[in-house]
Amino acid sequence: MSPQLAILGGRPTFAQPMPGRAGFFPARERFVAAFAGIFERQYYTNQGPLAAALERRLAERLEVRHAICVTNGTVGLMMAAEALGLKGRIVLPAAAPAAPAVALGWAGLEPVFCDIDAARLQMTADTVAEALDRADGDAIAAALGVNLWGGAGDPPGLAALAEARGLAFLSDSAHGFGCAVAGTPLGGFGRAEVFSFGPGKIVTATEGGCVTTNDDELAARLRNIRSSYGAGRPVSVVRTANGRMSEAQAAVALLSLDDFEANRRHNLALRCAYEEGLRGIPGIGLVEPAGVSTSNHHYVIARLDAAAFGMGAAALAEVLAAENIGARLLIAAGLHRSFPWGAADRPAARLPGTDAAAASSLCLPTGAAVSIEAVARICEAIAHAQRTAPAIRARRE
Ligand SMILES: Cc1ncc(COP(=O)(O)O)c(C=O)c1O
Repeated sequence: MSPQLAILGGRPTFAQPMPGRAGFFPARERFVAAFAGIFERQYYTNQGPLAAALERRLAERLEVRHAICVTNGTVGLMMAAEALGLKGRIVLPAAAPAAPAVALGWAGLEPVFCDIDAARLQMTADTVAEALDRADGDAIAAALGVNLWGGAGDPPGLAALAEARGLAFLSDSAHGFGCAVAGTPLGGFGRAEVFSFGPGKIVTATEGGCVTTNDDELAARLRNIRSSYGAGRPVSVVRTANGRMSEAQAAVALLSLDDFEANRRHNLALRCAYEEGLRGIPGIGLVEPAGVSTSNHHYVIARLDAAAFGMGAAALAEVLAAENIGARLLIAAGLHRSFPWGAADRPAARLPGTDAAAASSLCLPTGAAVSIEAVARICEAIAHAQRTAPAIRARRE
């Protein structure tokens, strides 16, 4: 290791930039064989045999009656809102990626942001109740439970609250494939759940996703919304969309599903290596995936105590970027403070858990491209940053 950190003029830890979360690729031979089948069948899309096989495997794995594969998670959320006939306002957490709020915005819904429990990095029934009380009188149609970072935001508690307040409850489990709450896999909580199989997810279809539900009627609506050419039992829907998953996407997803357990084990080994490497460094530790009995461990999140460590998450991210280490802030700012929701002329809601998470949480590199040896070097760079925090602060100022 260079005696000097790169931000202070030394050589970076890694010669090439290391991405924050490189996707898992299946072995090339299996990929070629799967695509040979597509060429033989000469069939690209609209509920082909691979998409149908994927739906059966997902439904079995997630213990639900229906898994409806779609072209990506964003479209899945839009379709779920349409199939449920949601209109008006919807509660969802501000400490989340923008994708769910954006998708529901396309579906004509207006977000009402709730806070999170900063220790768990998840929404709770209490934070949703607080948002409902804050919105006093304004019709709220639904609550979106967003299960983030390999953890979950108490789906049973949120479902009970939604029922008590007369709201529809659905979940965004884009990050949650393979996670379980008290032994029950994510997928069957609420009217519908939406998963993403995007490029950086633990199960990937290159781009893709699915909507899960145990409601036969809702499933029929979703299938008819998804394909403007019709698929499955016809039911009347007002608006259709092209949300189909192609055979090429389904082929990759099936391979990725085969690799799920191995990839989860790799993630867990990386997490253990981080735990080991960060032990003893003042002011930094890992956040446990909260609310789940099983996690996919696809996200490794460090929490900083700026006073004890010597700098906050944004400063450490900058130091690590100079080392070619792609550690990213968990969220740059809560969505309640971000464009287009946090307009300058509108006072942002008071969401202290969200603000605390933004200041203190950092996603550490994980996934296929990261080795145990690389984690040890990343932890050394973090320890070095802590030891030289005063010099780094002086340089940044
Ligand atoms: C929480 C969350 N919901 C929804 C999505 C949208 O999924 P997709 O990228 O498949 O459209 C994402 C994207 O990563 C996400 O992080």
